[in-house]
Amino acid sequence: MPDQKYLYIKTFGCQMNVHDSEQIEELLKKEGYQKTDDAKRADLVITNTCSIREKAEHKAYSMLGRFRHLKELNPELIIGVGGCLAQQLGRNLFKKAPYLDLVFGTHNIHLLPEMIQQIKSNKNRIVETLFHESVKSLGIRTLPDNGCVSSYVTIMQGCNNFCSYCVVPYLRGREESRESNDIIDEITFLADHGVREVTLLGQNVNSYGETLPDGSNFPALLKRISDIKGIERIRFTTSHPKDLSDDLIRCYDTINKLCKHIHLPVQSGSDYILKRMNRRYTSEDYIKKVKKLREICPNVSITSDIIVGFPGESDNDFQKTIDLMEKVRFDNAFSFKFSFREGTSVEKLNGNIEDSVKSKRLSMLQSLQEKHSMEINKNLEGSVANILVEGFSKNDQADIMGRTSTNKIVNFTGDIGTVGKIVPVKIIKACTHSLRGKMI
Ligand code: SAH
Ligand code: SF4
Ligand code: F3S
Repeated sequence: MPDQKYLYIKTFGCQMNVHDSEQIEELLKKEGYQKTDDAKRADLVITNTCSIREKAEHKAYSMLGRFRHLKELNPELIIGVGGCLAQQLGRNLFKKAPYLDLVFGTHNIHLLPEMIQQIKSNKNRIVETLFHESVKSLGIRTLPDNGCVSSYVTIMQGCNNFCSYCVVPYLRGREESRESNDIIDEITFLADHGVREVTLLGQNVNSYGETLPDGSNFPALLKRISDIKGIERIRFTTSHPKDLSDDLIRCYDTINKLCKHIHLPVQSGSDYILKRMNRRYTSEDYIKKVKKLREICPNVSITSDIIVGFPGESDNDFQKTIDLMEKVRFDNAFSFKFSFREGTSVEKLNGNIEDSVKSKRLSMLQSLQEKHSMEINKNLEGSVANILVEGFSKNDQADIMGRTSTNKIVNFTGDIGTVGKIVPVKIIKACTHSLRGKMI
């Protein structure tokens, strides 16, 4: 066993990045690195970055700024930057932070042990941002901390959609699905170690299997996963509305273990803007799919992502987004001001929207969403929901928490011994982003 060393890792961005960090920890555990929450104690510091919006980029820079001083305290410290911003900037990151030792891109996680070894022996900096035909870290198995009931499983990498505003296809590469047998093996392993819920990850899970020769597809994969003993709940994120097939919608009826929630980002309610975004559906297509989903699964919860202030978005286009929200009534929505990203095709479009207009639209949209979330949650008061208990509540350690199948957080007084079990809980009070319950 190698000497005990400490790893401090800070993660920004989406669930995909969170899971990448879990895989990094797993790889480095084998090299003798134990995770620490105290950066001053670390022998190795890694920032796993995101570049989806300018704000995400700035967060990463301010984090890197804090690491400079750590290096002054400990000259032997190795500082690495991974993730989407590392992929984007490569060696240019050294200009921003000359004290960095390592920059590694989204396809090079598997090389970490080797690169760290090289830095130690040669005292040289390393940059590795090459894309490989296949992402070798896809299958690194992580076992969540003891007692953890829910786990991420990456089923595909990359994206082929090229929405005009989005950097992801450039930073994560082309779409690549993992072999279904590998996925099944991993989930069986997780179930054998106490995991009860899996969240399948991919930028567009609906097109799972398109790059595989064996004819696998997403509904068939869901069916196979639902046959795994011990797995009680299956979630997935994200699905692109254009690829939401009738077959997948039917799974909400036929696969009991499939949670009654879908994250289906609409981005805008204006067909003109959707076209400029290269989303390849209209607001009517979207509303029709929501209707079908609700016919098959009346209580399905639907959440979304929405961008305001996309170039060329008039007051009237924005109003169409509000109209769509009124028609659909999302359970929750994440909304963002459009942020220009270098290299994306939106560059060629014009019609920049002033920041003050973006802010006004964002706050209007967010108040409407809060109103809808609250009204939907209020309607649940008095009902009984099955909750998969995850652990102590974040707000109050005297409480425990879990989620409904519809992905709503419920805090309630209960026995920590129920972690990992599905228990019936009466909803007694609604809040905008969570529910208060009572175990029955
Ligand atoms: N693959 C997923 C998520 C991608 S990123 C999907 O297609 O749904 C998450 C969200 O960030 C997107 O849904 C979009 O709403 C937002 N986003 C992406 N690029 C953006 C940009 N340049 N400016 C503002 N928001 C952006
Ligand atoms: Fe980005 Fe569009 Fe791909 Fe999602 S589907 S990652 S928004 S390009
Ligand atoms: Fe960010 Fe990359 Fe995810 S840009 S949102 S970390 S895929």
